[in-house]
Amino acid sequence: MNTLKGLLLAGGTGSRLRPLTYTGAKQLIPVANRPILFYAIDAMVAAGITDIGVIIGDTGEEVQDALGEGSQFDCHFTFIPQSAPLGLAHAVKVARNFLSDSPFLMFLGDNLLRGGLTRLVDRFRQGDFAASILLTEVDNPEHFGVAVVDHGRVIHLIEKPQNPPSKLALVGAYCFTPLIHQAIERLKPSWRGEYEITDAIQGLLDADLPVDATLVEGWWKDTGRPEDVLEANRLVLEDIQTAVHGEVDNDSRIEGRVVIQKGAQIWRSTIRGPVSIASGAKVEDSYVGPYTSIGPGVHIIHTEIENSVVLSDSHIIDVSERIDQSLVGRGVIVQGIRSRPRAVHLILGDQSRIDL
Ligand code: TTP
Repeated sequence: MNTLKGLLLAGGTGSRLRPLTYTGAKQLIPVANRPILFYAIDAMVAAGITDIGVIIGDTGEEVQDALGEGSQFDCHFTFIPQSAPLGLAHAVKVARNFLSDSPFLMFLGDNLLRGGLTRLVDRFRQGDFAASILLTEVDNPEHFGVAVVDHGRVIHLIEKPQNPPSKLALVGAYCFTPLIHQAIERLKPSWRGEYEITDAIQGLLDADLPVDATLVEGWWKDTGRPEDVLEANRLVLEDIQTAVHGEVDNDSRIEGRVVIQKGAQIWRSTIRGPVSIASGAKVEDSYVGPYTSIGPGVHIIHTEIENSVVLSDSHIIDVSERIDQSLVGRGVIVQGIRSRPRAVHLILGDQSRIDL
């Protein structure tokens, strides 16, 4: 088989992650202080895919700046603008020139796979399939593309079915031969106005072409909603090893597995891992509890926080209640008020959310 190319999807709207996605790409939201997109690239490179087309949309400039030309990941990127997020099959269509007649792996840039992509890619390379898809069992198949499988072969696919024929959902990783392009040419937009990759793969099945299925090993996480980002952060932090390179004073306690990057400062505080604290962050008279990532330049002062992700340069100061299950963007200020009368002052961007 010809060398596999990669197609990484980093466009889209990210509407479910507003307001964070008003000012940034959803694929660049960090978990354990690393953009989600970087884990996707690592997985592709580990599977031997180094010629990678990156689909970009409105946030394209930010994605290009973060990725560079690829040398930091040992691969090469070609950035491919998509005029509007018209669906996964549309993304393949706009990448047609880049893909040429190569087989390719398509991966969604907001998906995380603990077990990587190697097994999927190796099976596809060794077999004689028109496509190979990755599946996982879910409790709510009506929200996914669903597959009916017989002896490892896909028989039928259906997008978000009202009466799911199985619990096997399509995960955001697909291997294709160039035959997919003909199936995409024949597509019409779905009820939601998108060109669905599920319909294109069903087109391959309708033409009696073989489509292989591989089951996910380990966990898989689609980071479409804030609670998914927090869950992804938890899952990735489960795997970290202690590395304390920042400054920690004698009045602080570090418990469990904790990463404190060089240039971070911990004064009179308790850090209970798994926790990641980025360079330039400052934690004073505070408690940072399990499953929390504190971004670069963040200040946590007189505050307790756990199960949370704080992006860069935010200040959280004098908050009287423990902050839990929270996703805080860049440059946010959360400041407790000590003087009376006590009241809540809010200056919130569109579609912010506060639970008091
Ligand atoms: P989705 O999560 O399905 O869509 P979205 O990012 O627009 O989010 P929302 O539904 O909250 O508005 O997209 C999956 C991935 O594929 C994500 O990384 C964005 C990317 N994508 C594209 O690059 N082009 C597209 O046309 C679509 C639909 C998605």
